[in-house]
Amino acid sequence: MAKAKSVYVCQNCGTDSPKWIGRCPSCGEWNSYVEEVFRKETTAKPTYNGLEPTKSKPVRIESVESTEEQRMDTYSLEFNRVLGGGLVSGSLVLLGGEPGIGKSTLILQVALLMKDKRVLYVSGEESVKQLKLRADRLKTPNSECFVVGETSLEQIFVHIQNVQPDVVVIDSIQTISTEYAESSPGSVTQVRECAASLLKFAKESGVPVLLIGHINKEGSIAGPKVLEHIVDTVLQFEGDQNYMYRILRANKNRYGSTAELGIFEMQQNGLREVTNPSELLLSQNHEGLSGVAIASAIEGIRPFLIEAQALVSTAAYGTPQRSSTGFDIRRMNMLLAVLEKRAGFKLAQKDVFLNIAGGIKVNDPAIDLAIISAVLSSSMDIALEKHICMAGEVGLSGEIRPVNRIEQRILEAEKLGFKKIIIPDFNTHQAQKETRFTIEIIKAKKVEDAFRVLFGKQ
Ligand code: TYD
Ligand code: MG
Repeated sequence: MAKAKSVYVCQNCGTDSPKWIGRCPSCGEWNSYVEEVFRKETTAKPTYNGLEPTKSKPVRIESVESTEEQRMDTYSLEFNRVLGGGLVSGSLVLLGGEPGIGKSTLILQVALLMKDKRVLYVSGEESVKQLKLRADRLKTPNSECFVVGETSLEQIFVHIQNVQPDVVVIDSIQTISTEYAESSPGSVTQVRECAASLLKFAKESGVPVLLIGHINKEGSIAGPKVLEHIVDTVLQFEGDQNYMYRILRANKNRYGSTAELGIFEMQQNGLREVTNPSELLLSQNHEGLSGVAIASAIEGIRPFLIEAQALVSTAAYGTPQRSSTGFDIRRMNMLLAVLEKRAGFKLAQKDVFLNIAGGIKVNDPAIDLAIISAVLSSSMDIALEKHICMAGEVGLSGEIRPVNRIEQRILEAEKLGFKKIIIPDFNTHQAQKETRFTIEIIKAKKVEDAFRVLFGKQ
């Protein structure tokens, strides 16, 4: 009988201690220590085929042959793009997201699309029948996709031996457990041990493994931070439950850029790829409505136009309310302060509500100018012209700072039928070297310049 050893492990950060502690000295979380039992016997540690690990040997880095990593096409343009061009052989990919956001749907859809690959989809959450029901909705028949309901890691390795898949999916890492650790599934030890065994399997066999992970209430992936360190790629699937758009982004990627973004739309029969996000994100008819401004933004390498909506009203209570969806509230407060200083608006007595249409969160600073214009437009109740859009970062003294990749932004605006675009003065000399634009380019040095164009003389 193996000798059991118990340790107390912080369920928040994974630090362990021989004794129970009330407050984790590492992450500061209270009451997060839980007793977990290990079996001492290290030979019981699961390997995917019971082989002894090969002895490693250091070599000169120059003598290592550099080969391009082999990538599998997932037949999903957006998924490929976020992965950096496809699924790399032997990689361990973690996909996190809120419950019900569509993680299982996304991965099953990809599994079904990969017709030339054999995929083993292991679900610890749903029965094979439920998976079949979902697959029927997705309407992508694939005879090489195997499914199994299983929660034991040792059994999963047996299934892998039998099926010999090209890709393995584990839905989700928090539901599977190994006999090696005696704590319950989802605990730090289990998650860590299972992920480490799967990593070993992926690296030794060259079979990519996709893990689905739950996220906790703070929005990070449940379980130890080490899980994110172990895997090669961490993908985050996000979006608002009330909106149909879903954004897939890479928080970490050993095989590609983390700036890429995939956009999907949840429909009756699965996720549809959104190749032209601008059309979705702009509400069709905002002509004559005040408080709306369009920004030409870039996320990753893709430009798209987004709509900033603001509502400014007289504050009913002493302290004015500030609320923002999809935009950093501290940045909004800064922009309001700039507006107060440069345009003389008494925003201290006004409630300001801000929303980025479509439920998407944008980090591009080039949307500052649109935010500030939307607020001013609502405050004065003057609608902007329909065919105008803008790109520009606003500095503390009201100057409009240059933005990157201005040409792409202008082209996107032109493609969508906009007639005018306001861009930072500094960027114009780059942009006007190109005479191919038919869209009118208006340069602005300061916010006042932009306001003059948008609202006429003040
Ligand atoms: P699911 O993939 O089960 O989410 P997760 O694995 O992230 O918890 O997705 C569940 C939601 O997706 C569910 O509320 C219904 C919706 N959905 C559709 O709208 N259309 C579909 O074709 C499918 C399969 C799901
Ligand atoms: Mg699921």
